[in-house]
Amino acid sequence: MKLSSRIRQLKPSATLAVDAKAKALRAQGVDVLNLSAGEPDFDTPEHIREAAKQALDQGFTRYLPAVGLPELREAVCFRLEQDYGLKYRPEEVLITCGAKQALYNLAQTLLDPGDEVLILSPYWVSYPPIVELAGGVPVIVAGRPEKNFEPEPEEILARVSERTRGVILNSPSNPTGCIYSREFLSAVAEIVRQKDLWVISDDIYDRLRFDGRPPENILSVAPDLRSRVLLVNGVSKAYAMTGWRIGWAVGPEEIIKAAAKLQGQSTSNATAFAQKAAVAALTGPQDCVERMRQAFAERAEFLYQALKQIPGVSPVRPQGTFYLFADFSGIYGCRTPSGREIRDSVSLAEYLLEEARVAAVPGVAFGEDRFLRLSFAQGLETLREAVSRIRQALEKLAHAP
Ligand SMILES: Cc1ncc(COP(=O)(O)O)c(C=O)c1O
Repeated sequence: MKLSSRIRQLKPSATLAVDAKAKALRAQGVDVLNLSAGEPDFDTPEHIREAAKQALDQGFTRYLPAVGLPELREAVCFRLEQDYGLKYRPEEVLITCGAKQALYNLAQTLLDPGDEVLILSPYWVSYPPIVELAGGVPVIVAGRPEKNFEPEPEEILARVSERTRGVILNSPSNPTGCIYSREFLSAVAEIVRQKDLWVISDDIYDRLRFDGRPPENILSVAPDLRSRVLLVNGVSKAYAMTGWRIGWAVGPEEIIKAAAKLQGQSTSNATAFAQKAAVAALTGPQDCVERMRQAFAERAEFLYQALKQIPGVSPVRPQGTFYLFADFSGIYGCRTPSGREIRDSVSLAEYLLEEARVAAVPGVAFGEDRFLRLSFAQGLETLREAVSRIRQALEKLAHAP
Protein backbone atom coordinates (compact mmCIF):
# COMPACT_ATOMS: atom_id res chain seq x y z
CA MET A 1 0.00 0.00 0.00
CA LYS A 2 1.31 3.44 -0.85
CA LEU A 3 2.00 5.76 2.05
CA SER A 4 1.51 9.48 1.66
CA SER A 5 4.63 11.53 1.00
CA ARG A 6 3.74 13.54 4.09
CA ILE A 7 4.07 10.44 6.28
CA ARG A 8 7.11 9.12 4.44
CA GLN A 9 8.93 12.36 5.12
CA LEU A 10 7.94 12.46 8.79
CA LYS A 11 10.74 11.45 11.18
CA PRO A 12 9.76 9.49 14.29
CA SER A 13 10.28 11.31 17.60
CA ALA A 14 13.91 10.68 18.61
CA THR A 15 13.19 11.11 22.31
CA LEU A 16 10.34 8.60 22.26
CA ALA A 17 12.59 6.21 20.29
CA VAL A 18 15.41 6.25 22.88
CA ASP A 19 12.89 5.90 25.68
CA ALA A 20 11.30 2.91 23.93
CA LYS A 21 14.73 1.27 23.39
CA ALA A 22 15.62 1.71 27.06
CA LYS A 23 12.27 0.29 28.17
CA ALA A 24 12.63 -2.68 25.79
CA LEU A 25 16.10 -3.48 27.21
CA ARG A 26 14.69 -3.26 30.70
CA ALA A 27 11.87 -5.61 29.77
CA GLN A 28 14.57 -8.13 28.71
CA GLY A 29 16.01 -7.92 32.21
CA VAL A 30 18.90 -5.56 31.35
CA ASP A 31 19.65 -3.12 34.17
CA VAL A 32 19.28 0.14 32.19
CA LEU A 33 19.23 3.53 33.89
CA ASN A 34 16.83 5.56 31.80
CA LEU A 35 17.88 9.20 31.66
CA SER A 36 16.05 9.75 28.39
CA ALA A 37 12.51 10.11 29.68
CA GLY A 38 10.61 13.35 29.22
CA GLU A 39 8.34 12.84 32.18
CA PRO A 40 8.46 13.26 35.97
CA ASP A 41 9.07 10.08 37.96
CA PHE A 42 6.49 11.17 40.56
CA ASP A 43 2.96 9.82 40.72
CA THR A 44 0.09 12.14 39.89
CA PRO A 45 -0.88 13.70 43.26
CA GLU A 46 -3.64 11.90 45.10
CA HIS A 47 -6.26 14.66 45.12
CA ILE A 48 -6.03 14.83 41.32
CA ARG A 49 -6.46 11.07 40.93
CA GLU A 50 -9.41 11.23 43.32
CA ALA A 51 -11.09 13.88 41.16
CA ALA A 52 -10.83 11.57 38.13
CA LYS A 53 -12.24 8.62 40.10
CA GLN A 54 -15.14 10.72 41.27
CA ALA A 55 -15.81 11.92 37.74
CA LEU A 56 -15.90 8.30 36.52
CA ASP A 57 -18.19 7.25 39.34
CA GLN A 58 -20.51 10.11 38.46
CA GLY A 59 -20.67 8.94 34.86
CA PHE A 60 -18.62 11.76 33.45
CA THR A 61 -17.78 9.65 30.43
CA ARG A 62 -19.52 11.29 27.51
CA TYR A 63 -18.65 13.71 24.72
CA LEU A 64 -17.90 17.27 25.72
CA PRO A 65 -17.76 20.40 23.58
CA ALA A 66 -14.68 19.94 21.36
CA VAL A 67 -13.23 23.18 22.67
CA GLY A 68 -13.17 21.84 26.24
CA LEU A 69 -15.01 21.65 29.55
CA PRO A 70 -16.18 25.16 30.52
CA GLU A 71 -14.93 24.59 34.08
CA LEU A 72 -11.45 23.73 32.82
CA ARG A 73 -11.32 26.70 30.47
CA GLU A 74 -12.10 28.85 33.50
CA ALA A 75 -9.48 27.05 35.60
CA VAL A 76 -6.85 27.82 32.95
CA CYS A 77 -7.79 31.52 33.16
CA PHE A 78 -7.59 31.32 36.95
CA ARG A 79 -4.03 29.93 36.83
CA LEU A 80 -2.92 32.48 34.24
CA GLU A 81 -4.05 35.24 36.57
CA GLN A 82 -2.49 33.61 39.65
CA ASP A 83 0.82 32.76 38.00
CA TYR A 84 1.32 35.63 35.52
CA GLY A 85 -1.22 38.27 36.50
CA LEU A 86 -2.70 37.82 32.98
CA LYS A 87 -6.45 38.19 32.53
CA TYR A 88 -8.05 35.94 29.90
CA ARG A 89 -11.63 34.88 29.20
CA PRO A 90 -12.64 31.19 28.84
CA GLU A 91 -13.52 31.90 25.17
CA GLU A 92 -9.81 32.49 24.61
CA VAL A 93 -8.89 28.95 25.78
CA LEU A 94 -8.87 25.71 23.77
CA ILE A 95 -8.44 22.47 25.73
CA THR A 96 -6.38 19.92 23.81
CA CYS A 97 -5.02 16.41 24.09
CA GLY A 98 -1.72 17.57 25.62
CA ALA A 99 0.34 20.64 24.81
CA LYS A 100 1.54 18.72 21.76
CA GLN A 101 -1.90 18.84 20.18
CA ALA A 102 -2.19 22.53 21.02
CA LEU A 103 1.04 23.14 19.07
CA TYR A 104 -0.09 20.92 16.21
CA ASN A 105 -3.50 22.59 15.94
CA LEU A 106 -1.97 26.08 16.05
CA ALA A 107 0.49 25.23 13.29
CA GLN A 108 -2.35 23.88 11.14
CA THR A 109 -4.42 26.97 11.92
CA LEU A 110 -1.73 29.59 11.28
CA LEU A 111 0.41 28.27 8.43
CA ASP A 112 0.04 28.07 4.68
CA PRO A 113 2.47 26.08 2.53
CA GLY A 114 5.82 27.85 2.36
CA ASP A 115 5.23 30.01 5.43
CA GLU A 116 8.35 30.22 7.57
CA VAL A 117 8.57 29.84 11.33
CA LEU A 118 11.61 30.82 13.38
CA ILE A 119 12.70 28.08 15.78
CA LEU A 120 15.52 28.78 18.20
CA SER A 121 18.02 25.98 18.56
CA PRO A 122 18.48 23.76 20.51
CA TYR A 123 14.77 23.14 20.14
CA TRP A 124 12.22 20.60 21.28
CA VAL A 125 12.26 17.70 18.80
CA SER A 126 8.66 18.07 17.69
CA TYR A 127 8.70 21.75 16.59
CA PRO A 128 10.19 21.24 13.11
CA PRO A 129 7.93 18.27 12.18
CA ILE A 130 4.84 20.05 13.55
CA VAL A 131 5.63 23.06 11.34
CA GLU A 132 6.41 20.84 8.34
CA LEU A 133 3.19 18.83 8.71
CA ALA A 134 1.34 22.12 8.24
CA GLY A 135 3.34 22.80 5.05
CA GLY A 136 5.48 25.37 6.87
CA VAL A 137 9.25 25.76 6.71
CA PRO A 138 11.22 25.71 9.99
CA VAL A 139 13.98 28.31 10.01
CA ILE A 140 16.50 27.38 12.68
CA VAL A 141 18.41 30.12 14.51
CA ALA A 142 21.16 28.69 16.70
CA GLY A 143 21.95 29.88 20.21
CA ARG A 144 25.32 29.35 21.91
CA PRO A 145 25.83 27.66 25.28
CA GLU A 146 28.06 30.47 26.57
CA LYS A 147 25.24 32.97 25.81
CA ASN A 148 22.46 31.10 27.62
CA PHE A 149 21.51 29.69 24.20
CA GLU A 150 20.06 33.10 23.27
CA PRO A 151 20.82 33.99 19.65
CA GLU A 152 21.83 37.63 19.04
CA PRO A 153 18.81 39.70 17.97
CA GLU A 154 20.66 40.56 14.73
CA GLU A 155 21.02 36.85 13.99
CA ILE A 156 17.27 36.40 14.39
CA LEU A 157 16.52 39.47 12.27
CA ALA A 158 18.84 38.22 9.54
CA ARG A 159 16.68 35.09 9.20
CA VAL A 160 13.38 36.96 8.87
CA SER A 161 12.09 36.96 5.28
CA GLU A 162 8.94 37.97 3.45
CA ARG A 163 7.55 34.52 4.27
CA THR A 164 8.24 34.59 8.03
CA ARG A 165 5.00 34.36 9.98
CA GLY A 166 6.04 33.65 13.53
CA VAL A 167 8.46 32.40 16.14
CA ILE A 168 8.24 29.57 18.68
CA LEU A 169 9.68 30.23 22.14
CA ASN A 170 10.20 27.68 24.90
CA SER A 171 11.49 28.83 28.27
CA PRO A 172 12.44 27.06 30.52
CA SER A 173 13.74 25.08 27.59
CA ASN A 174 13.68 21.45 26.71
CA PRO A 175 16.50 20.39 26.13
CA THR A 176 18.81 23.06 27.61
CA GLY A 177 17.08 23.77 30.95
CA CYS A 178 17.86 27.46 30.30
CA ILE A 179 15.47 30.34 31.00
CA TYR A 180 15.53 33.26 28.57
CA SER A 181 16.46 36.58 30.17
CA ARG A 182 13.97 39.46 30.21
CA GLU A 183 16.38 41.38 27.97
CA PHE A 184 16.31 38.64 25.38
CA LEU A 185 12.52 38.34 25.50
CA SER A 186 12.27 42.12 25.07
CA ALA A 187 14.58 41.97 22.05
CA VAL A 188 12.44 39.22 20.49
CA ALA A 189 9.33 41.26 21.25
CA GLU A 190 10.81 44.18 19.32
CA ILE A 191 11.45 41.98 16.28
CA VAL A 192 7.89 40.63 16.53
CA ARG A 193 6.50 44.19 16.49
CA GLN A 194 8.78 45.36 13.69
CA LYS A 195 8.19 42.38 11.42
CA ASP A 196 4.53 41.80 12.23
CA LEU A 197 4.96 38.21 13.46
CA TRP A 198 3.05 35.99 15.85
CA VAL A 199 4.58 34.13 18.78
CA ILE A 200 3.83 30.68 20.09
CA SER A 201 5.05 30.63 23.68
CA ASP A 202 5.42 27.04 24.86
CA ASP A 203 5.30 27.49 28.64
CA ILE A 204 5.02 23.80 29.54
CA TYR A 205 7.94 23.97 32.07
CA ASP A 206 7.01 27.41 33.47
CA ARG A 207 6.41 26.22 37.04
CA LEU A 208 9.64 24.21 37.14
CA ARG A 209 12.19 27.00 37.51
CA PHE A 210 14.85 26.78 40.17
CA ASP A 211 15.22 30.46 41.07
CA GLY A 212 11.87 30.29 42.88
CA ARG A 213 10.53 33.21 40.80
CA PRO A 214 7.03 33.17 39.36
CA PRO A 215 6.60 32.04 35.74
CA GLU A 216 7.46 34.50 32.98
CA ASN A 217 6.91 34.56 29.25
CA ILE A 218 7.09 37.14 26.47
CA LEU A 219 3.88 38.81 27.69
CA SER A 220 5.59 39.52 31.03
CA VAL A 221 7.91 41.94 29.23
CA ALA A 222 5.69 42.93 26.29
CA PRO A 223 2.01 42.95 27.35
CA ASP A 224 1.21 44.97 24.22
CA LEU A 225 1.80 41.83 22.11
CA ARG A 226 -1.21 40.06 23.53
CA SER A 227 -3.13 40.06 20.25
CA ARG A 228 -0.31 38.17 18.50
CA VAL A 229 0.79 35.74 21.23
CA LEU A 230 -0.49 32.19 21.63
CA LEU A 231 0.27 30.58 24.97
CA VAL A 232 0.65 26.81 25.12
CA ASN A 233 0.72 24.87 28.35
CA GLY A 234 -0.65 21.77 30.06
CA VAL A 235 -0.71 19.65 33.19
CA SER A 236 1.85 17.03 32.04
CA LYS A 237 5.04 18.35 33.58
CA ALA A 238 4.07 20.48 36.60
CA TYR A 239 1.54 17.99 37.99
CA ALA A 240 3.18 14.74 36.85
CA MET A 241 0.25 14.03 34.51
CA THR A 242 1.94 13.08 31.24
CA GLY A 243 -0.38 10.15 30.53
CA TRP A 244 -3.58 12.11 31.12
CA ARG A 245 -3.07 14.09 27.92
CA ILE A 246 -4.50 17.47 28.85
CA GLY A 247 -3.06 20.71 27.50
CA TRP A 248 -4.31 24.00 26.13
CA ALA A 249 -3.77 26.93 23.82
CA VAL A 250 -4.70 30.45 24.93
CA GLY A 251 -4.88 33.51 22.70
CA PRO A 252 -7.06 35.72 20.52
CA GLU A 253 -10.58 34.32 20.33
CA GLU A 254 -10.58 34.27 16.53
CA ILE A 255 -7.55 31.94 16.44
CA ILE A 256 -8.87 29.75 19.26
CA LYS A 257 -12.20 29.37 17.44
CA ALA A 258 -10.40 28.41 14.24
CA ALA A 259 -8.21 25.86 16.03
CA ALA A 260 -11.31 24.46 17.78
CA LYS A 261 -12.92 23.95 14.35
CA LEU A 262 -9.97 21.74 13.41
CA GLN A 263 -10.29 19.83 16.67
CA GLY A 264 -14.00 19.36 16.04
CA GLN A 265 -13.16 17.59 12.77
CA SER A 266 -10.27 15.53 14.13
CA THR A 267 -10.09 14.36 17.75
CA SER A 268 -13.09 16.22 19.29
CA ASN A 269 -12.77 16.86 23.02
CA ALA A 270 -9.84 15.71 25.15
CA THR A 271 -10.84 12.90 27.55
CA ALA A 272 -13.76 14.02 29.73
CA PHE A 273 -12.74 12.69 33.16
CA ALA A 274 -9.10 13.71 32.57
CA GLN A 275 -10.40 17.28 32.12
CA LYS A 276 -12.10 17.02 35.53
CA ALA A 277 -8.77 15.89 37.02
CA ALA A 278 -7.04 18.85 35.37
CA VAL A 279 -9.54 21.21 37.03
CA ALA A 280 -8.53 19.71 40.41
CA ALA A 281 -4.86 20.15 39.48
CA LEU A 282 -5.19 23.82 38.51
CA THR A 283 -7.55 24.96 41.25
CA GLY A 284 -6.55 22.64 44.14
CA PRO A 285 -3.57 22.85 46.51
CA GLN A 286 -0.35 23.74 44.71
CA ASP A 287 2.14 22.45 47.28
CA CYS A 288 2.59 19.26 45.19
CA VAL A 289 4.11 21.38 42.39
CA GLU A 290 6.45 23.04 44.88
CA ARG A 291 7.61 19.70 46.32
CA MET A 292 8.42 18.36 42.86
CA ARG A 293 10.12 21.60 41.89
CA GLN A 294 12.39 21.41 44.93
CA ALA A 295 13.25 17.78 44.25
CA PHE A 296 14.14 18.64 40.63
CA ALA A 297 16.25 21.59 41.77
CA GLU A 298 18.25 19.41 44.15
CA ARG A 299 18.79 16.75 41.49
CA ALA A 300 19.76 19.37 38.90
CA GLU A 301 22.53 20.66 41.13
CA PHE A 302 23.74 17.18 41.99
CA LEU A 303 23.91 16.08 38.37
CA TYR A 304 25.55 19.31 37.24
CA GLN A 305 28.28 19.16 39.89
CA ALA A 306 28.90 15.44 39.32
CA LEU A 307 29.16 15.69 35.52
CA LYS A 308 31.47 18.68 35.80
CA GLN A 309 34.06 16.42 37.40
CA ILE A 310 34.27 14.14 34.36
CA PRO A 311 37.06 15.06 31.90
CA GLY A 312 35.73 15.98 28.46
CA VAL A 313 32.20 16.72 29.69
CA SER A 314 30.85 20.30 30.01
CA PRO A 315 27.37 20.38 31.49
CA VAL A 316 25.14 23.44 31.31
CA ARG A 317 23.71 24.29 34.74
CA PRO A 318 19.93 23.78 34.51
CA GLN A 319 17.81 26.77 35.52
CA GLY A 320 14.57 24.83 35.26
CA THR A 321 12.82 21.74 33.70
CA PHE A 322 14.15 18.27 34.51
CA TYR A 323 16.79 18.13 31.80
CA LEU A 324 20.50 18.73 31.79
CA PHE A 325 22.22 19.43 28.48
CA ALA A 326 25.92 18.54 28.44
CA ASP A 327 28.63 19.06 25.84
CA PHE A 328 30.46 15.77 25.29
CA SER A 329 32.32 16.85 22.15
CA GLY A 330 35.56 16.78 24.19
CA ILE A 331 35.56 13.01 23.80
CA TYR A 332 34.59 12.89 20.11
CA GLY A 333 37.35 11.20 18.12
CA CYS A 334 38.05 8.65 20.89
CA ARG A 335 37.66 4.92 20.19
CA THR A 336 35.58 2.37 22.08
CA PRO A 337 37.25 -0.85 23.36
CA SER A 338 35.84 -2.61 20.26
CA GLY A 339 37.49 -0.02 18.00
CA ARG A 340 34.47 2.08 17.02
CA GLU A 341 34.99 5.81 16.84
CA ILE A 342 32.78 8.13 18.90
CA ARG A 343 32.04 10.64 16.15
CA ASP A 344 28.83 12.32 17.19
CA SER A 345 26.00 12.37 19.71
CA VAL A 346 24.33 9.29 18.22
CA SER A 347 27.44 7.07 18.40
CA LEU A 348 28.07 8.34 21.93
CA ALA A 349 24.51 7.64 23.08
CA GLU A 350 24.75 4.15 21.57
CA TYR A 351 28.04 3.50 23.34
CA LEU A 352 26.66 4.69 26.69
CA LEU A 353 23.60 2.49 26.31
CA GLU A 354 25.70 -0.58 25.45
CA GLU A 355 28.63 -0.06 27.81
CA ALA A 356 27.18 1.92 30.74
CA ARG A 357 23.56 0.84 30.39
CA VAL A 358 22.60 4.51 30.62
CA ALA A 359 20.04 5.90 28.16
CA ALA A 360 20.41 9.55 27.12
CA VAL A 361 19.08 11.42 24.10
CA PRO A 362 21.58 12.44 21.38
CA GLY A 363 21.73 16.20 21.03
CA VAL A 364 21.37 15.99 17.25
CA ALA A 365 17.65 15.36 17.87
CA PHE A 366 17.51 18.92 19.25
CA GLY A 367 19.76 20.42 16.56
CA GLU A 368 23.00 20.37 18.63
CA ASP A 369 25.24 17.39 17.86
CA ARG A 370 27.93 18.19 20.45
CA PHE A 371 25.52 17.54 23.31
CA LEU A 372 23.52 14.82 25.06
CA ARG A 373 20.35 15.44 27.03
CA LEU A 374 20.17 13.72 30.41
CA SER A 375 16.88 13.75 32.26
CA PHE A 376 16.92 14.03 36.04
CA ALA A 377 13.38 12.83 36.45
CA GLN A 378 14.98 10.02 38.48
CA GLY A 379 15.94 9.75 42.14
CA LEU A 380 19.37 10.87 43.40
CA GLU A 381 20.58 7.28 43.85
CA THR A 382 19.87 6.49 40.20
CA LEU A 383 21.60 9.68 39.13
CA ARG A 384 24.67 8.90 41.27
CA GLU A 385 24.91 5.43 39.77
CA ALA A 386 24.37 6.79 36.24
CA VAL A 387 27.20 9.32 36.59
CA SER A 388 29.52 6.67 37.97
CA ARG A 389 28.71 4.37 35.03
CA ILE A 390 29.19 7.18 32.49
CA ARG A 391 32.56 8.02 34.03
CA GLN A 392 33.71 4.40 33.89
CA ALA A 393 32.54 3.97 30.29
CA LEU A 394 34.35 7.12 29.19
CA GLU A 395 37.53 6.03 30.98
CA LYS A 396 37.57 2.90 28.80
CA LEU A 397 37.83 4.97 25.60
CA ALA A 398 41.18 5.03 23.82
CA HIS A 399 42.71 8.57 23.95
CA ALA A 400 40.17 9.52 26.62
CA PRO A 401 40.79 13.07 27.84
C1 LIG B 1 8.85 21.71 25.18
C2 LIG B 1 7.69 20.79 25.21
N1 LIG B 1 6.52 21.22 24.73
C3 LIG B 1 5.43 20.43 24.71
C4 LIG B 1 5.49 19.15 25.21
C5 LIG B 1 4.24 18.29 25.14
O1 LIG B 1 3.66 18.08 26.36
P1 LIG B 1 2.26 17.32 26.49
O2 LIG B 1 2.54 16.09 27.31
O3 LIG B 1 1.38 18.27 27.24
O4 LIG B 1 1.76 17.02 25.15
C6 LIG B 1 6.69 18.64 25.72
C7 LIG B 1 6.79 17.25 26.19
O5 LIG B 1 7.84 16.64 26.24
C8 LIG B 1 7.82 19.50 25.73
O6 LIG B 1 9.00 19.09 26.22
